[in-house]
Amino acid sequence: MNIENMYKKKLSAYTEGNEELFFYWKGRVALYAILKSMGVDEGDEVILPAFTCVVVPNAIIYAGAKPIYVDIIPETYNMDISKLENAINEKTKVIICQNTFGLSSNIEEIIALAQKFNLYTIEDCTHGFGGYYNEKFNGTNCDSAFFSTQWNKPFSTGIGGFALINNFGLLEKIKLLEKNKIRPSLFDNLNILFLILARKIFVNSFTYWIVLKLYRFLSVKGIVLGSSSNDELNSIEMPVHFFKGMSKVQLIIGIYESNRLEKLIERRKRNATLYSEFLFIHKKNHVVKNLFNNHSFLKYPILVKNREVFFETARVNKIELGDWFISPLHPIKKDFVKWKFDINDFPIAEKMSEHIVNLPLEKKNIIRVLRFLESNMDNLM
Ligand SMILES: Cc1ncc(COP(=O)(O)O)c(C=O)c1O
Repeated sequence: MNIENMYKKKLSAYTEGNEELFFYWKGRVALYAILKSMGVDEGDEVILPAFTCVVVPNAIIYAGAKPIYVDIIPETYNMDISKLENAINEKTKVIICQNTFGLSSNIEEIIALAQKFNLYTIEDCTHGFGGYYNEKFNGTNCDSAFFSTQWNKPFSTGIGGFALINNFGLLEKIKLLEKNKIRPSLFDNLNILFLILARKIFVNSFTYWIVLKLYRFLSVKGIVLGSSSNDELNSIEMPVHFFKGMSKVQLIIGIYESNRLEKLIERRKRNATLYSEFLFIHKKNHVVKNLFNNHSFLKYPILVKNREVFFETARVNKIELGDWFISPLHPIKKDFVKWKFDINDFPIAEKMSEHIVNLPLEKKNIIRVLRFLESNMDNLM
């Protein structure tokens, strides 16, 4: 069996047995391939939540379509279903729903609306691989789903992504696209290997903030391989080598790392419960437990009054916080108009992005984080 098929077998334990998986350099490339397999082109519109990563609207724009955003609800950080129908018109071709931080919501309603208007649905499962929505694995409800194995994702291959096709009518087209994928070079393979080793050696609670800052600086400058290039964050032009396949190193590491997934999911669920209970007792904003009975959290979102102070105190105390999504089109903070985004239209997304901070979930022991929260209670919303 070749390594791609071995990886498919591993992953199919989390896709209800479906092995129609297609591998790419990053999750965003998988989204682009799915959109193209759905025939998305010039003049089409694709609906997505107004609280996402900028690379999602990028992929829509690269496919020739216009992103149409829908504001979110604070409880799940996902699309406000009551605003969805208004966003649909004769140009709409696809609705993207998202597992934000691992939380998904209203998928049945979204699918029902899509069926009513004859639209495709895609689940952005970049945060939610291995979690469930109702009784089914994330990613198995819509026509298709895409996943990410970038740093901090459910499991990591440095960078990486894949598409799952549930609507077999899309298979012919996505298989045709396989021929156009750029093959990762030896340099690409070595680059991934280097980053993974460097992370294992250099990142720990003491170095986290410094390494994070340095890595982001070097990757934006193009000196090391980053999650997003300067081009992707500053323009809507498709980068030259965008449509790249998955390297052998990513496939092998993916097979190895996916073995840890079950344990990681259990740990994340347990830690999310601890955070929720703690915040509930202290009457602070939290994700209500019945929302994640069978979801799997990637990071735990909280809201703070003064984020700058909170981050600085965390840095001094060596608490590893995340900063997703400190902008509704993370990590873009200006020129939203390029992405056809008017922040004034999305007051909830704007508010959430002004106050959000993410707590780590993958740690075995989160007592230090809970103590940190306790001593910064005044800053929690
Ligand atoms: C919601 C969301 N969608 C898509 C992506 C893109 O994933 P990738 O970095 O693998 O392209 C990200 C990246 O973090 C994300 O947060």
